[in-house]
Amino acid sequence: MSKPSRPAATARPGGAPASPLSARGDRHFDGLADKFAGSLYGASRGALRLALLDRLLPEMLELDGQPLLDVGGGLGQLAAWFASRGHRVTLVDPSAEMLARAETHLAEHLSEPLAERQVSLLHAPLQELPSLAPGPWRLIACHAVLEWLADPRGAMATLAGLLAPGGQLSLMVFNRDALRFSNVVKGNLEKAMADRLEGTGQRQRLTPISPLTHAQVEAWSQACGLEIREVAGIRVFHDYLRTPPADEREQARLLELEHRYCRVDPHWRLGRYLLYTLERPLSPSSSTQESPA
Ligand SMILES: C[S@@+](CC[C@H](N)C(=O)[O-])C[C@H]1O[C@@H](n2cnc3c(N)ncnc32)[C@H](O)[C@@H]1O
Repeated sequence: MSKPSRPAATARPGGAPASPLSARGDRHFDGLADKFAGSLYGASRGALRLALLDRLLPEMLELDGQPLLDVGGGLGQLAAWFASRGHRVTLVDPSAEMLARAETHLAEHLSEPLAERQVSLLHAPLQELPSLAPGPWRLIACHAVLEWLADPRGAMATLAGLLAPGGQLSLMVFNRDALRFSNVVKGNLEKAMADRLEGTGQRQRLTPISPLTHAQVEAWSQACGLEIREVAGIRVFHDYLRTPPADEREQARLLELEHRYCRVDPHWRLGRYLLYTLERPLSPSSSTQESPA
């Protein structure tokens, strides 16, 4: 595993971290791995997300075994999914804790050692990828990461700069509009009135610091020369249920409903996450293109 130097969390003179945010203001997941693993992937919402991705990725992406750069790859589920389908995978994350878990997950889920499967782990933040893994890449995944960054727009331009012409970016972001909806449903009316929806990243909370809207993704992708090919909502119903699915049969029905409506207007717009396929056209058509950060 490569360990380049990277910005550490800001520290007080005594050595104790003053903030869990990195010097760039991002929330790396050191100290959050247990909570993330338990409260997302240890619960029905995580299982539903993975089941939906298992159906949607082959529908939304053109896959031919091309190498994948998995940015902010976390616990390694997506990397394992692609590796088991024959893709070479480079999983990148700035959190040593998440990388260690990803390594364990991958070793458990792949029949051969990681090197034989051509899976590698890179300890780095997205912002350092132009020098550490410039590609250009035909396939990049960045799922549930931009909302943990101080500058998600700059990050999107960086990802765009790593894509080969014709390359695809599978981008998943935490949906600000769905966050408002669920706050109102839960009775957090003051928060919703003040539009104070984002988390601070300072505590052990999993409310992202930069939840995004579809309008932002549309505008930013256009600005960095990417075209939206596909969009879907992930968990368009699940988070608004009054009672969780009682048994496996109900869970299976919910998955069918989620899948049936996740790409249908207006349902996809209130998915907890928005999943996009963005493509870098073979020849740039727009003069509004930003250079990568
Ligand atoms: C919510 S988790 C998502 C993990 C995984 N992609 C998934 O979908 O389960 C966010 C991940 O982004 C990582 N992250 C935070 N700041 C980052 C940065 N600047 N560059 C790359 N990854 C970052 C965190 O360490 C964490 O592993």
